[in-house]
Amino acid sequence: MLLEVKNLSKSFGKVKAVDRVSFSIDEGDSVGLVGESGSGKTTLSRLLLGLLKPDSGGLRLSANSSRLSKTAQIVFQDPQTSLNPRIKIGEAILEPIRIHKTDAKVDELLQLVGLPADFASRYPHALSGGERQRVGIARALAVRPKFLILDEPVSALDLKTQVQILNLLKDLKEKLKLTYLFIAHDLSVVKYICDRILVMYKGRIIESGSREQIFESPQKEYTSRLLASVL
Ligand SMILES: Nc1ncnc2c1ncn2[C@@H]1O[C@H](COP(=O)(O)OP(=O)(O)OP(=O)(O)O)[C@@H](O)[C@H]1O
Ligand SMILES: [Mg+2]
Repeated sequence: MLLEVKNLSKSFGKVKAVDRVSFSIDEGDSVGLVGESGSGKTTLSRLLLGLLKPDSGGLRLSANSSRLSKTAQIVFQDPQTSLNPRIKIGEAILEPIRIHKTDAKVDELLQLVGLPADFASRYPHALSGGERQRVGIARALAVRPKFLILDEPVSALDLKTQVQILNLLKDLKEKLKLTYLFIAHDLSVVKYICDRILVMYKGRIIESGSREQIFESPQKEYTSRLLASVL
């Protein structure tokens, strides 16, 4: 087991953003986390990354992955806001390498995400949205993580670019033996990339199951409505 979460809770004032959430993720899993806006998906991922302290409950990463910050990395929805416009791509990728003192190389990471080496000297504005998201993925991979949390990584992109990035993520998962927690409101994206799905509603995981179970025989009314996109 890579990650075990037990009764994790986090409130902001009266809002129970994450409410007694329990689940586990095995190495190599690709788990989807779905739910409407405000259901607590990002808050849960920030708890998993150690960026937020839970009010109660806890999480455990497998024994051989000692440091959370090195084991788990996040790819955000909008690489535009996570990349500093004044910093060249090469420098942006070098930053996590320096901070975590890994042996990764900028060239190697660019190649891994399908970008030419000379992109290192470009500024973020000179890249397309898809290319910027590839840089976001390269930065996450610089730390050589085992576990990637992908928070709506393709929802800011057009359909063709979405497919390209999803295929890249699929390839990288195989090649680097990664484990994914994939957050999305678009269920077709989750269907394409995830084997198991967690459905979140008002801070709680209300249903979980294999992709087939969730898509073919959802148990909860909420899940059916989510699948029908009426929410
Ligand atoms: N730092 C914060 N301070 C106060 N309230 C917060 C904070 N972060 C999140 N919340 C609240 O917690 C709830 C869950 O928010 P969260 O961002 O986790 O939802 P989400 O499922 O990621 O939504 P979306 O799909 O829109 O990204 C919301 O009601 C939100 O307003
Ligand atoms: Mg969110």
